[in-house]
Amino acid sequence: MEIRTERAGDHEQVFQLNFSAFGNREDEARLVETIRLSGQFIPELSLVAEEHQRLVGHVLFSKAEVVDGDRHHEVIVLAPIAVKPSEQKRGIGGRLIQEGLKRCAAMGYELVFLIGHPTYYPKFGFKPARAHGFELKQFQVSDDVFMVYELKEGAGGRIRGVLMYPPSFF
Ligand SMILES: CC(C)(COP(=O)(O)OP(=O)(O)OC[C@H]1O[C@@H](n2cnc3c(N)ncnc32)[C@H](O)[C@@H]1OP(=O)(O)O)[C@@H](O)C(=O)NCCC(=O)NCCS
Repeated sequence: MEIRTERAGDHEQVFQLNFSAFGNREDEARLVETIRLSGQFIPELSLVAEEHQRLVGHVLFSKAEVVDGDRHHEVIVLAPIAVKPSEQKRGIGGRLIQEGLKRCAAMGYELVFLIGHPTYYPKFGFKPARAHGFELKQFQVSDDVFMVYELKEGAGGRIRGVLMYPPSFF
């Protein structure tokens, strides 16, 4: 299994992957398409897992902001992630997340946020974001599902504020 950057020829399969992983609903598949066309898209952070010339997983990391008064910090949000239902629980999601975090760090980003399953992401080092000084106003979610990953030690101490998802998410 190979983790690589998504290519233009993958778009249809990525749509289908997200559609099937999220219970045959189009919301997340369409979210990927909307982010791809936005200024928040970073091509190297749209990753696919490929096996026997078929895509079995996809994850998208894209730009967002943490706003603290007049200060705006560019950060990364992870959304969505999808693994083909028949291939789940083989570590594919984990490999996609770890490769994405590595690439975000190499690009100099400091923080990655997500809203997700509270028992899954802590395995990769994500922590509750509100306890680290971050707020989220756009979505009403419990403390345990709003998470942050510090790519640079102490980044969560230097940066504070409200996470703002870009318009693609609405
Ligand atoms: C979530 C998802 C991407 C994980 O991918 P994966 O390749 O199955 O994950 P991995 O093999 O790396 O990890 C499997 C572990 O995650 C756990 N896990 C999978 N889905 C989970 C969920 N919805 N909630 C909590 N834990 C979950 C498994 O129980 C397993 O735990 P274990 O290692 O202790 O046995 C995949 O299940 C998926 O596509 N789900 C549907 C879409 C979705 O919910 N996306 C995430 C939205 S936040």
